[in-house]
Amino acid sequence: MEQSVEHPASRERVIAGNWKMYKTREEAVAYVKALAPLVGSALAKVYLAVPYTLIHSAAEAAKGSTLVIGAQNMNDASEGAFTGEIAAKMLLDVGAQFVILGHSERRQRFNEDNGFIHRKIRRALQDGLQPILCIGETLEERESNKTEAILAEQLTGCLGDLTSGELAPLILAYEPVWAIGTNRTATPEIAQKAHQFCRSYLSEKWGTAFAEALVIQYGGSVKPENAAELMSQPDIDGLLVGGASLDVETFNRIIHF
Ligand code: PGA
Repeated sequence: MEQSVEHPASRERVIAGNWKMYKTREEAVAYVKALAPLVGSALAKVYLAVPYTLIHSAAEAAKGSTLVIGAQNMNDASEGAFTGEIAAKMLLDVGAQFVILGHSERRQRFNEDNGFIHRKIRRALQDGLQPILCIGETLEERESNKTEAILAEQLTGCLGDLTSGELAPLILAYEPVWAIGTNRTATPEIAQKAHQFCRSYLSEKWGTAFAEALVIQYGGSVKPENAAELMSQPDIDGLLVGGASLDVETFNRIIHF
């Protein structure tokens, strides 16, 4: 097997859990209290994206540790008559420090398009919330050789005219839709190729310094068994973990890959 190149130590590493629509407050607090003492020895910074209702309790339970709590979505407006929506400053108010934007479940099930996601990213950055932008192709797009065209379209559409300076806090997550919740992880080679494409595309448009410093996470059926191999790829700087982040013991094995 080909020897993988060492990951550049200059780039930060961030592993984020995404709980999706799971857990009650009691379950969340027990989980965070168990995880908080373990993140200090993790091989990456550790983030946890929890449902809105759990942000405050999770952030309180994480106090005194380096565990970073965030949200899974937000609205693009600063405030207003948007029944059922949540604004960035409300997330900050309850202790969120980051927000996942453009997850494929939101794109597919709630019809979010690149333009809407772009407005959310702009708002998050303006209000001081770190965005994790998710992009990725469907199986059909991959099989018809459209992967790179789709990634380029999502990057351009979601980042728009934001400057490299404005985008500095951004984290990018490459999540092939066919690998999410399917037990079908992208091979490290497939993921590395997509990450490398994103980095070079961003380098052309937003400059090498921005692209080289950008944390790019891989997401899609990450497990303790495949985390180390994925993390050994030169352009994989982190992981976005759904199902396997729900159990504290399993997630702890991933952050200590
Ligand atoms: P999964 O989800 O790890 O359950 O595949 C990843 C994600 O949707 O972020």
